[in-house]
Amino acid sequence: MNSVIDILMKRKSIRAYEQKEIEAEIKAEILQATLRAPTAGNMMLYSIIEVTDQKIKDKLAITCDHQPFIAKAPLLWLFVADYQRWSDYFIASDVETLCRDKKIEMRKPEEGDLFLACCDALIAAQNAVIAAESFGIGSCYIGDIMEQYETHKELFNLPQYTFPICLLCFGYPTQQQKGRSYTTRFNQKFIVFENQYRRLGREDFDEMFRGSEYRMSKERSKEGITNYGQAMYLRKFSADFSVEMSRSVRAILKEWEK
Ligand SMILES: Cc1cc2nc3c(=O)[nH]c(=O)nc-3n(C[C@H](O)[C@H](O)[C@H](O)COP(=O)(O)O)c2cc1C
Repeated sequence: MNSVIDILMKRKSIRAYEQKEIEAEIKAEILQATLRAPTAGNMMLYSIIEVTDQKIKDKLAITCDHQPFIAKAPLLWLFVADYQRWSDYFIASDVETLCRDKKIEMRKPEEGDLFLACCDALIAAQNAVIAAESFGIGSCYIGDIMEQYETHKELFNLPQYTFPICLLCFGYPTQQQKGRSYTTRFNQKFIVFENQYRRLGREDFDEMFRGSEYRMSKERSKEGITNYGQAMYLRKFSADFSVEMSRSVRAILKEWEK
């Protein structure tokens, strides 16, 4: 196993941090590695906002589905899918005149551009995660940043063609977090296919979730649920935060479509 694979295999999400700053030189190296991430058309369709203001951190700990550890993260980076910069550049480059002369309609950023920008932002974020890990710095994604768009838009002064796709918390792991066991993954046969997509059936699911059925058995009786699928449906898929995330993303899409 080489050192990169070793880092990938040993990474886990870290949600409690030593109250120790990340050294400036190390942060600079993580940032350089982040910015070297592959990027569609070499356009760097993302922005990174470092959150240093404790008041904003405190607010995010509430708006991102009440996760107090966010406020305690020594380093917080918001990854924003960003087509505003290129859209502004096209206007600054007088593309409007070009289109008028050529009698073609000037395109505005649309759904495809948004998805591409999200890819860019997330790939850069994962570079940051792995670079940090190589220095012994733990991290945790916060997907809940996609909720409460109106609040986050105002908080970060986000213009129309942006999308706050993920928040990353970084910090040196506490001893307790270092000792925490790893999460499991599904058997790869349920995830990796050859040539064609394969839909899974009842027998596959029985095998795929066998361990999970056992893990949820304690809560089962309390909530009146009979299997892991029902537990996950209630706890994740139909939970308030998921409903809010979809509402918020719809609001962002409306903003792009304006
Ligand atoms: C897109 C994305 C969003 C996530 N959002 C959160 C979050 O809001 N809060 C949190 O504690 N963990 C969050 N996580 C971390 C996952 O819960 C974690 O990766 C998963 O449970 C597997 O555990 P591991 O990273 O330790 O292997 C997120 C991960 C991803 C990739």
